[in-house]
Amino acid sequence: MQPPLTFRFNDGTEVRRLGYGAMRLTGQPGNFGPYEAWEDGKKVLRRALELGINCIDTARAYGPGWNERLISEALHPYPQGLFIATKGGVVKKSASERYLDGSADGLRRDCEQSLKNLRVECIDLYQLHWVDSDVPLSESVTGLARLQQEGKIRLIGLSNITVKQLEEARSIARIASVQNRYSVTERQGDPMVDYCAREGIAFVPYGPLGADPMKHGSPLASAQGALAEIGKHLGATATQVALSWLLHRAPNVLPIPGTTSIAHLEENVAAARLNLTQDRLQQLESMSGRANE
Ligand SMILES: NC(=O)c1ccc[n+]([C@@H]2O[C@H](COP(=O)([O-])OP(=O)(O)OC[C@H]3O[C@@H](n4cnc5c(N)ncnc54)[C@H](OP(=O)(O)O)[C@@H]3O)[C@@H](O)[C@H]2O)c1
Repeated sequence: MQPPLTFRFNDGTEVRRLGYGAMRLTGQPGNFGPYEAWEDGKKVLRRALELGINCIDTARAYGPGWNERLISEALHPYPQGLFIATKGGVVKKSASERYLDGSADGLRRDCEQSLKNLRVECIDLYQLHWVDSDVPLSESVTGLARLQQEGKIRLIGLSNITVKQLEEARSIARIASVQNRYSVTERQGDPMVDYCAREGIAFVPYGPLGADPMKHGSPLASAQGALAEIGKHLGATATQVALSWLLHRAPNVLPIPGTTSIAHLEENVAAARLNLTQDRLQQLESMSGRANE
């Protein structure tokens, strides 16, 4: 059966499940500085919308700020229904240096900057990028809840967290999403996917094609052959099978594959229409293996 194409967040907002991760449209190496092919980057973003994508993920740390500015330059004024998720709490100093600041003041500073960069009055989904071990998680989440009460952010998300941390955060504020690393070849996040599915929380897998965030690599390298073999029977590529598996995994999974290429973008979007039978899913299951709690 074809998996649902849309997901409804816990405030009722509906988005297309297959989104776009914009991080790669930044300076390289290290996702630092403006994207060198600035005008091409704008074309990729505009094409994403033409193809029906209405959920874009970015972060203040990408650039820093340059990725959000590219998005606003390409897409502002935003069409109705476009959902932009960004993140705060990581301060990037150079291509190789960064530190975490999850303090309420740090998150407020990042959020104010993102509002300016994106040219919005309210951010659709604001995510704590990483938990800062020097700051109690309760302070970070309380800081985000305050930004929400002030109308600067609509939904709160958390990234790179554990189920235990999520439960702690949920005792303080309503959490709409979790963004952790996860793909058909990296299944450590299975218990989190299941938890979020049970609780109606969006699970946004980053690195859905298995790429290293700081490098350009061949997606799902070691499994490419096996995925391509499955794809052959469906008229699909290895990448499409990997994305389709995520969409079949649970209805709350919202993959955000990243690309700098319009051809890859088109290929990735087409994966949403792929139908994996129980047999194919079984095959993929035995290839990767479910992680236990
Ligand atoms: N929360 C976090 O800590 C965190 C960390 C990392 C990333 N993220 C988010 O997750 C998003 C996605 O992650 P990601 O970009 O690191 O990894 P990814 O989506 O797993 O893979 C992106 C890589 O795969 C290549 N690719 C994409 N489509 C392809 C296709 N159809 N065929 C062949 N190659 C293809 C891209 O190269 P081309 O440009 O050549 O297509 C790029 O190098 C990011 O944009 C960001 O929004 C979040």
